[in-house]
Amino acid sequence: MKCRVCREPAVIDLRRHNANFCIEHFLRLCRDQVAKAIAEHDMFAPEDRILIAVSGGKDSLALWDILLDMGYQVDGLYIGLGIGEYSEQSVTYVEKFVESRDVNLRIIDLPTEYGYDIPSGSRAAKRTPCSACGLSKRHLFDQAATEGGYDVVVTGHNLDDEAAVLLGNTLRWQSDYLGRQKPVLPAGHGFPRKVKPLVRLGEREMAAYCVLTGIDYIVDECPKAVGNKHLGYKEVLNLLEAQSPGSKHDFYAGFLARAVDRFASAEDETIDDRPALRPCTACGAPCSSEVCAFCRLVERATQDVPVKLGPTAKKEPTSL
Ligand code: AMP
Ligand code: FES
Ligand code: ZN
Ligand code: ZN
Repeated sequence: MKCRVCREPAVIDLRRHNANFCIEHFLRLCRDQVAKAIAEHDMFAPEDRILIAVSGGKDSLALWDILLDMGYQVDGLYIGLGIGEYSEQSVTYVEKFVESRDVNLRIIDLPTEYGYDIPSGSRAAKRTPCSACGLSKRHLFDQAATEGGYDVVVTGHNLDDEAAVLLGNTLRWQSDYLGRQKPVLPAGHGFPRKVKPLVRLGEREMAAYCVLTGIDYIVDECPKAVGNKHLGYKEVLNLLEAQSPGSKHDFYAGFLARAVDRFASAEDETIDDRPALRPCTACGAPCSSEVCAFCRLVERATQDVPVKLGPTAKKEPTSL
C-alpha cells in the first residue's frame, strides 16, 4: 500500500478518495479539507475571534489542532454536563490538550454553576437527556460567545453527524430543519455565527488524525446517547458507505449543492409569521416568549423531584 502523493508506505486507505496516504499526506489532506470547507462556505477570516466548543472527543480536539496549525487564534469552551464518569473523564482530555498548547479554555460546569446535571435535570424537566443536553449546550455556546465578544462559534460536527441528521430530517421531510442544515448559521437576532468546518471529513478520518498526531481523546460515546435514533442512522449510512464508498459525502454535499436553498427559501417565507424575538426576562438571551427555553429548563431541573417509593406509593403532586 503506497501513498498516492509520494509513493512512500501508506498508513491509511480512504476508499472515498480511492487512494492511500502516508502520515504526512493524510494530515495535509485533513487540513486541506478543513480549509476548503472554510473557504467554500465563507465560515470565518483570520482576523475573526473564534470560539471552539470542545467535548474531549476526537472531532473537536482534532479540529482545534487543525485550526491552530492553520494559524487561527482559537479559544476553547467546555461544558461540564454532569454525566457521571463520562463527564469526569472527558474534561481531563480537554485539559491535557490545553496544557500542551498555548490556548485559552473556558469551562462552564452545569452542576456547580446552574445546580443541575443532565441525567437528573432532564428527568425533572421531563425531557430526554439528549434534548436537555442539546438545549443547554446551544444556549451556553451562544451566551459564552456573546459575553466573550467572539465573532463565531465552531463545533466539531463531522460528515457522519451531518449526513445522519440529514437522513433523519429527510425521512420525516422536516422542511424547517432541512432549511437550516447548512454548515454555516449566520449571526442575527442577537445570536452569534455558528460553523461546522469538519463537514468534509468523517469519523474514521478524525480518529486517525488524533492517533497519528498523538491527541488523546475520550473514546466512549456518551452513555445517554446509546441506542438513540441518530446512532441508528449512522449505522445505516455506514452500511451504504461500505457497499458504495462516497455515498455519505454525495448525499450531504449533493443536498448542499442542489436542495438546501429550496428549503431555506421556504423557511424564509414563514419567518414573518413568527413572533418577534425579545430579551428573556431572566437571562437576556433573545427568545420568542417571556422566559427562554433554557431558563425554563433550569427552573424545572433544579426543582425537587418527588422520590418514587414503589408501585404502592402514593403519587406525590408535582409542581411541574
Ligand atoms: P455531539 O453532539 O456530542 O456529537 O457533539 C458535537 C459537537 O458539539 C462537538 O464536536 C463539540 O464541538 C460540541 N460539544 C459537544 N459536547 C460538548 C461539551 N460538553 N462542551 C463543549 N462542546 C461540546
Ligand atoms: Fe448530551 Fe450525551 S452528550 S446527552
Ligand atoms: Zn505521502
Ligand atoms: Zn433565559
